[in-house]
Amino acid sequence: MKILLFGKNGQVGWELQRALAPLGELHALGSDAADFAVPESLADRVRTLRPDVIVNAAAHTAVDRAEAEPELARRINAEAPAVLAREADAAGAWLVHYSTDYVFDGSGDVPRDEDAPTGPLNVYGRTKLEAEAAIRASGARHLVLRTSWVYGTRGGNFARTMLRLAQERDRLAVIDDQIGAPTGAELIADVSAHAIRAVVAGGAPGGTYHLAAAGETSWHGYACRVIEAARAAGAPVKVAPEAIAAVPSSEFKTAAQRPKNSRLDTGKLGRAFGLTLPPWEAGVDRLLAEILT
Ligand SMILES: NC(=O)c1ccc[n+]([C@@H]2O[C@H](COP(=O)([O-])OP(=O)(O)OC[C@H]3O[C@@H](n4cnc5c(N)ncnc54)[C@H](OP(=O)(O)O)[C@@H]3O)[C@@H](O)[C@H]2O)c1
Repeated sequence: MKILLFGKNGQVGWELQRALAPLGELHALGSDAADFAVPESLADRVRTLRPDVIVNAAAHTAVDRAEAEPELARRINAEAPAVLAREADAAGAWLVHYSTDYVFDGSGDVPRDEDAPTGPLNVYGRTKLEAEAAIRASGARHLVLRTSWVYGTRGGNFARTMLRLAQERDRLAVIDDQIGAPTGAELIADVSAHAIRAVVAGGAPGGTYHLAAAGETSWHGYACRVIEAARAAGAPVKVAPEAIAAVPSSEFKTAAQRPKNSRLDTGKLGRAFGLTLPPWEAGVDRLLAEILT
């Protein structure tokens, strides 16, 4: 099986390089070799390689910056995946694409399934939703995997930011009215590899699936777990547990509005692929064990 991976240097792309390697002949490209800001340039990449599976982990993920550069975000997040879908259809290849809880409006307090009505609140969410529609309309065999609150061990992430702030400040304020599941790039990559094997072998249907760690928390709950782990590991934490204030989103003005309810119902994925998604704490604790040693 020949696999063409785009976005190899992102959080998910980096882990996909590891997880997809045993599936076949993997060709992984970064933005230097395939520029999503020039969508039509991607066609040539697909036609030259003739892959069996195209995996797209590239995206314009700077949610606030996307508000100021909507055309660029749209080219990268919507037009480029549409070109990949067209080319996948023409080549008879599978397209695996990642989407987001930000396609939803964040109302309510129950997990949303794949058929729930969408209603993005910001440019990023709208462009990601547009890609989903283009992929479904293309006729290409596909997996659209919607995930949430992604972190990776490489580069910056929320846990690292909280660890730094907890060592610099004696008070912190963290949002507690956005609820979701922090999901490790490792988990996303491993589940993707299982799902690709299954769909290519005809053992499970393609389509849209929610892929997130089990359970739920707020950014405040996430921060408290990170800081407590740091304290337990003997890191020089300055902030006291009672000095981590839980505050509403309205306390932090951001260019892009974010959904409050990011809960994703992952039952369909578990049933289709026979997988159990681990609790978010398991992945975050593992991340912390790596960061704190
Ligand atoms: N991060 C989250 O919390 C989150 C939540 C839900 C869904 N998702 C989705 O999950 C997928 C993976 O996200 P991630 O967190 O791994 O993203 P990430 O770490 O921000 O990586 C994004 C990748 O896209 C690449 N990219 C950006 N502009 C590009 C361009 N013009 N041409 C080619 N490549 C370009 C970047 O390449 P360079 O490194 O070379 O710039 C980077 O490798 C995306 O589809 C994202 O929408 C993410």
